[in-house]
Amino acid sequence: MTSKHKEIDEWYKSAREDILDSMDEELEMELDDDRLSPDGGSASVIPRNVYFKELFRLQGELVKLQDWVVENKLKVAVLFEGRDSAGKGGAIKRITQRLNPRVCKVVALTAPSEREKTQWYFQRYVSNLPAGGEIVLFDRSWYNRAGVEKVMGFCNDAEYEEFLRTVPEFERMIIRSGIILIKYWFSISDDEQYSRFMVRIHDPLKQWKLSPMDLDARRRWEDYTKAKEIMLDRTNIPEAPWWVVAANDKKKARLNCISHLLTQIPYKEIDHPEITLPERVHNPDYLRGPV
Ligand code: ADP
Ligand code: AMP
Ligand code: MLT
Repeated sequence: MTSKHKEIDEWYKSAREDILDSMDEELEMELDDDRLSPDGGSASVIPRNVYFKELFRLQGELVKLQDWVVENKLKVAVLFEGRDSAGKGGAIKRITQRLNPRVCKVVALTAPSEREKTQWYFQRYVSNLPAGGEIVLFDRSWYNRAGVEKVMGFCNDAEYEEFLRTVPEFERMIIRSGIILIKYWFSISDDEQYSRFMVRIHDPLKQWKLSPMDLDARRRWEDYTKAKEIMLDRTNIPEAPWWVVAANDKKKARLNCISHLLTQIPYKEIDHPEITLPERVHNPDYLRGPV
């Protein structure tokens, strides 16, 4: 083998390692999901190899969508709502996994501070809306007021009613300003939430996910159901409808959500000029070690 061939061979080996490494990363996330099953919620009906193949294909499409968003300076806001443990976080992770964090950002706000509580309710969300060339994924959103805040009593009845009354107009303003707004509700059953919480209780790597709020959510399943029905009913506007993701099967939910998201923004593949790496300097002294 010539030294040039050797170099290419070495390079190829390391690239292969990279590819295997990224598959390992995904596999680790999946195995983590499956730990402690069957109590870990329902197993997916999708075989693992089919799931990976489809996920990688969709993630490739997301990269094209990202290029399109940047090229055309689009502004995209996607809301992920649903009960605790519905799988919003897992879906968001798979969307961002292969994307540029400067383009595709995740916003997961904490409970409002004392200062924020004195502001206009929507204010801290407005400052997180996308600029041109950005996709913002909201892991929970202003809809907290219609869900957790209503059920747990973090807002009063007047604030709740004012929210439901104004949110359609708020969203129409956002859309008229040129933002593409997409709203997902991840839907899980009572039994499925119960199983997922059981895993969180028993798995040391997942205990951090279990907040006191979650235990209350179990006790108040019916209250949340009522709040959800009112929310979907009053805020399902033609300009920004709710899309309900059947989420008892996590893998199906992720694939369905991502492929649906891809249909919401008509994008085309952006042609990139062919890339050739500059020639390497073949200087034996230089190759001996770091300079
Ligand atoms: P998550 O399920 O998102 O990991 P939690 O279950 O702890 O987090 O909380 C659910 C939501 O309730 C969060 O978006 C949080 O900001 C909100 N929240 C918690 N406490 C308050 C509060 N006192 N006032 C308003 N919102 C709150
Ligand atoms: P418990 O743990 O019995 O106090 O129940 C707390 C909540 O979990 C209640 O809302 C029950 O309806 C629910 N729950 C208890 N056991 C199950 C189960 N096997 N499947 C689904 N939900 C359950
Ligand atoms: C989810 O799975 O929906 C998110 O991780 C939120 C949660 O902690 O329940």
